[in-house]
Amino acid sequence: MVSRTTALLGLGLLLGCTRSPEPTKPEPSPAASAALAMPGPSADGLSPTAQAGHRLYAVCHSCHDPELIPPKGPPMFGIQRRYKKATDDKAAFIQRMVTFVETPDPERAVMKPAVERMGLMPALPLGQAPLEQIATYLYEAEFPAPCAHWKFAIEQDAQNPATAGDEHNRQDRMMYDKFCK
Ligand code: HEC
Repeated sequence: MVSRTTALLGLGLLLGCTRSPEPTKPEPSPAASAALAMPGPSADGLSPTAQAGHRLYAVCHSCHDPELIPPKGPPMFGIQRRYKKATDDKAAFIQRMVTFVETPDPERAVMKPAVERMGLMPALPLGQAPLEQIATYLYEAEFPAPCAHWKFAIEQDAQNPATAGDEHNRQDRMMYDKFCK
């Protein structure tokens, strides 16, 4: 598990990096800079709160980027689905997510196999309002199916007798077959 201090330090480094780009790198085009600074599906057409959340989402994307191989966190596609199933409405979704991000608790986690494999997420106490904005974005945005993530996980698990055919492996196969074939 990563300590809170390490997480905040990481956060500081991340924000620090975004503010001072490498002087030797060629200037990226304005569109490319916007894409770099704002990962995740576009918030165009979403509520103003979700748009504000999108602007903060880079902090989460550093681990939840579905292209990361090996992964540092579960892709938001699956997190969004699980939270929507586990909660009755948008307000409950946001509340539950904000609580988890401020004080991650393995008992309350909906992604239990991810906790076992990647360890519990570090607490990110960014404040109630910013976290609500991020959670609103994570409720409203349409995340693409993380096919590369599932493919990698399925292949890795198949090579490991401890994980081949386990619950996580079974779920990944099911999701891959449903969304990526
Ligand atoms: C240092 C890496 C890291 C960062 C940064 C990070 N996460 Fe996570 N996150 C994880 C890992 C690993 C898991 C899977 C284990 C778990 O559920 O705790 C996870 C799981 C989650 C879950 C599912 C929790 C559950 O119920 O199981 C949510 C929701 C979440 N993250 C939201 C966020 C949000 C929002 C941000 C940005 C404010 C963020 N994460 C930033 C690593 C990270």
